Amino acid sequence: MGRFQDKIVLVTGGTTGIGRAAVMMFAREGARVVFTGRRREPGEKLAEELSNENLEAEFIISDVSCPDEVSSLTKSIEKKYRTLHIAFNNAGIDGEPGRILECSLENWNRVLDINLSGLFYSMKYELALMTKNKGGCIINNISVSGHRGYPGAPAYIASKHGAAGLTKAAAMEYAHAGIRINGVSPGLIRTPMTDKDRERKEDYDDWVSKVEPLGRIGEAEEVAEAVLWLASDASSYITGHLLAVDGGILAK
Ligand SMILES: NC(=O)c1ccc[n+]([C@@H]2O[C@H](COP(=O)([O-])OP(=O)(O)OC[C@H]3O[C@@H](n4cnc5c(N)ncnc54)[C@H](O)[C@@H]3O)[C@@H](O)[C@H]2O)c1
Repeated sequence: MGRFQDKIVLVTGGTTGIGRAAVMMFAREGARVVFTGRRREPGEKLAEELSNENLEAEFIISDVSCPDEVSSLTKSIEKKYRTLHIAFNNAGIDGEPGRILECSLENWNRVLDINLSGLFYSMKYELALMTKNKGGCIINNISVSGHRGYPGAPAYIASKHGAAGLTKAAAMEYAHAGIRINGVSPGLIRTPMTDKDRERKEDYDDWVSKVEPLGRIGEAEEVAEAVLWLASDASSYITGHLLAVDGGILAK
């Protein structure tokens, strides 16, 4: 029996990177996982991989920046499973690099639509289901960029600061309902998102070793471990917390 035997778990943006690592870990710990993404092919491939391991995971196409799609996602979870125990709101984008003068309105709106409004829609519909069922657990994927500023990513940093605030606000509103709401704040993690930076930046590994006190990039599984801990009863007295999984960046 795993820690999440028969728990119904939703992971948004679950086809790659940190989301994918969390989908696999929850499924291997006995959960019935529903995961989302915008592209069919990688989603169906991961669902097939898990089913080959006799694990339960269902892929549903859903764009977090579309409230109607998020609403119908939670409706289909309610119809099939009647409840939702755990949600990992992970979907996010980093957008185009550049300072405020180079940041197009299109980039600004897209990043805020996905990372902040998308998180709001996700929690709104997840909480509707969890409050009906009198309990649950939500973990949001924030970032060290939700805690500090640096040049070149104003939309991402603003969206993640918003996501950090929204996480704490939601935790205060639903603590009485038995719903714990926390965040993880990853540092630099090896995923398709940072693979792009590796291609763009010369001496990427040197740069990482200077930025990261632990001297190396983190792995998606190291973040997923923290997500599963925050979703488990081992963290039963923790809510409204943003747990850094950042190799020490925020301690600098
Ligand atoms: N990789 C890092 O260093 C790092 C650091 C801090 C925070 N994060 C956060 O981790 C989360 C996951 O990122 P990752 O690094 O695994 O990169 P990733 O690009 O592999 O994962 C992002 C996932 O979100 C999905 N997604 C994007 N827009 C979506 C939308 N509108 N609707 C539904 N799904 C959507 C993508 O398809 C993808 O599966 C993001 O929120 C990101 O901001 C990553």
